[in-house]
Amino acid sequence: MSKQAIGVVGAGTMGQGIAQVVLAVGREVRFYDVAEAPLERAKAGIAKGLAKLVDKGKLATEARDAALARLTPTTSLEVLADCEVIIEAAPELPELKEQLFREMSKLAPEAILASNTSSLSLTRLAAVSERPERVVGMHFFNPVPVLKLVEVIRAEQTAHATVVQIETLAEELGKTAVAIVDSPGFAVNRLLVPMINEAAFLLQEGAAKAEDIDRAMQQGTAHPMGPLALADLIGLDVCLAIMEVLQDGFGDPKYRPCPLLKRLVAAGHLGRKSGCGFHAYA
Ligand code: CAA
Repeated sequence: MSKQAIGVVGAGTMGQGIAQVVLAVGREVRFYDVAEAPLERAKAGIAKGLAKLVDKGKLATEARDAALARLTPTTSLEVLADCEVIIEAAPELPELKEQLFREMSKLAPEAILASNTSSLSLTRLAAVSERPERVVGMHFFNPVPVLKLVEVIRAEQTAHATVVQIETLAEELGKTAVAIVDSPGFAVNRLLVPMINEAAFLLQEGAAKAEDIDRAMQQGTAHPMGPLALADLIGLDVCLAIMEVLQDGFGDPKYRPCPLLKRLVAAGHLGRKSGCGFHAYA
């Protein structure tokens, strides 16, 4: 018997990557966004991502076509009602996510509701849902088809069975699951984003050039890319939001966001997505 469909909410970079990996393992994906245009863009991105696998001989052309045929883009949330799991990857706006969790828990009472949030409290999202024991964090990393980790975040209300089901799904997707309780920044962002913030301080102080800070960490610690280039990939607005969540959540001044990071965000220099951040992009 074929497995149930997976719902993906939000057709941005993360939603696109998540949909791609779910399609690639043979599941149907119901892909929701409020508008057609982002869904069209994401579908084209998924086709491109799967084409890379075909080019490398890791996926047959027929399998790519079948994967794309399993994708149902929709602007109606009701279409996701019979999904086993709905993975929410909407923008990091608390009111928007809370509204989605309220609605999803009503229209899909049997589904597990997983959020890909990189900074918000799962316990708060569970609290607005009608089935808090079925709410959990499923945090992927960008680029999703490439990076193996999924953080599985347990809210205060999450049932053990929910965590186990999400760990099993992560494994089915070829990912490594790491379990963590709900706390600001979870594990990776609590370690990674303060490092990025500190790199911004180094740059602000004029201690080294952006290229040299990045080269130092690449060649001195074998990171695949330097912290400032990584901030540009993640989005400077996302990095700033995570620093604010850490500062707010722990009340510790060591998490103060670097003024240069704040200034760049205020100027709309958000990294790759806006064409300019710590570095400029063509
Ligand atoms: N679908 C399928 N495969 C893809 C793909 C896609 N969409 N995108 C890239 N790939 C594949 C490429 O085909 C390539 O495969 P091979 O090695 O088999 O040829 C491989 O992935 C690497 O891609 P590239 O050669 O294009 O690029 P690269 O070697 O320069 O690596 C990178 C680029 C993967 C981004 C690497 O620099 C990297 O891992 N950087 C660190 C990224 C990171 O730390 N991300 C986490 C950010 S934090 C986060 O996401 C969480 C949060 O909440 C903020």
